[in-house]
Amino acid sequence: VQGVRDGGGDPRPRRVLVFPLPFQGHIDPMMHLAGALHARAGLAVTVLHTRFNALDPARHPEFRFVEVPDGVPAGVAATGRIIDVILAMNAAMEASPEAVRGALASAMIAEDEDEEAPHAACLVIDSNLLAVQRAAEKLGLPTMVLRTGSAACLRCFLAYPMLHDKGYLPFQESQLYMPVPELPPLRVRDLFQTKISSHEMVREVIARITETVRNCSGLIINTFEALEPDELQKLRGELDLPLLLAAGPLHKLSSKTTGSSLLDQDYSCIEWLDTQPPGSVLYVSFGSLAAMDSGEFVEVAWGLANSGHPFLWVVRPNLVQDTDIAQLPDGFEDAVKGRGMVIQWAPQQEVLAHRAVGGFWTHCGWNSTLESVGEGVPMICRPNAVDQMMNARYVEEVWGVGFELEGELERGEVEGAVRKLMGGGREGAEMTERAEVLRRKVAECLDGSGSSRTAIDMLVDYMLSL
Ligand code: UDX
Repeated sequence: VQGVRDGGGDPRPRRVLVFPLPFQGHIDPMMHLAGALHARAGLAVTVLHTRFNALDPARHPEFRFVEVPDGVPAGVAATGRIIDVILAMNAAMEASPEAVRGALASAMIAEDEDEEAPHAACLVIDSNLLAVQRAAEKLGLPTMVLRTGSAACLRCFLAYPMLHDKGYLPFQESQLYMPVPELPPLRVRDLFQTKISSHEMVREVIARITETVRNCSGLIINTFEALEPDELQKLRGELDLPLLLAAGPLHKLSSKTTGSSLLDQDYSCIEWLDTQPPGSVLYVSFGSLAAMDSGEFVEVAWGLANSGHPFLWVVRPNLVQDTDIAQLPDGFEDAVKGRGMVIQWAPQQEVLAHRAVGGFWTHCGWNSTLESVGEGVPMICRPNAVDQMMNARYVEEVWGVGFELEGELERGEVEGAVRKLMGGGREGAEMTERAEVLRRKVAECLDGSGSSRTAIDMLVDYMLSL
């Protein structure tokens, strides 16, 4: 195996292995990174993937795929809970490291024993895959880490022990709005949280992430310099890494959509958007994991209907958690005829780039936030869990391109929020203007000498030097 990467001066093209965490919000940025490395530098890519949320190799004929046994018990897989799956997967991989090493070794060695086949330079893993990093270490394969969240989020993770020592965590209801001066502009309620996994599980996942990051040969963060300049500068001081690059928004760096959607994207909505006036439509989607109960679902439906504004709403199959099939309320379809469309899963990047879309009601997953920023679309934020609270805080407080819809979901509040963003008033118009300014910064970081473009070039040079 050593010989595979021992290629100083070897003219053969190099291969990079990538291993995303098998959740939509983690798969997408990793596949975009892989696409950018392949398109820009001609690097060959092998994608390691699990049976849980397996990727479809047929949709990526340019990449090679190797399955790694994940060992996630069926009961945990069925919950689909990200924290539980991360812990179960790492535990299973650590219990049988030889299985992971075997998969890695077969991914490193040229599949067809062809002399010309590229050999492996390094492995890029999701920061949640400490067990994989440990297995790679044993093989002498350097690991780089992709952080799919913001730089601010990683700073928060690194500060987790301090947040406990100082008593900010675990959360106390009475302190939710207390500022955390060590991590401005965050308040206690903006720190990483989940309503369904225990605090101890979260703490363990975060401890593993920070260990993976501190051990890696280089870190890539899906953000860009102009978006989080202070956070990146502080991270560079806090982490003593050979390389820390802000190379995002990664979805803007690969030339085509990745085909890595776990659900079928309904393109009929693009034709519908074509019929709507510019900037008129509110796009509503809560990502791949966030859920609501049927009472909240009905309030969202009537809030959107009563707002009078056109909307495109993604109702994923498991969005409503207390029923098998989400039922739109009686009378809703008639009330929104011609100006409302409901679909199961959207081609989100194309939707946000469409000229008809003027606002995004989002749960503020980091990918959704970056995708909105990349198209200059202002946001209504309804964060649900994990890093979404802090993303929403930055959207509202730092970048001024949206606002949070807080408290109970109630139709009157929803209607008011939609009108505030889309109704042509001063506040909404100012958010739209600031979103356009930010969009131009995204375009700048992606052009020839832009910071993210340069970061990818530096990354390729570095990978080839490993
Ligand atoms: C979230 C967090 O962002 C992530 O950091 C955390 O670890 C897990 O929870 P998710 O809920 O999937 O992830 O949201 P997001 O990060 O926004 O990613 C969703 C992805 O799905 C986006 O790339 C979006 O374009 C895509 N999507 C969403 C679609 O393709 N179609 C849709 O209809 C909705």
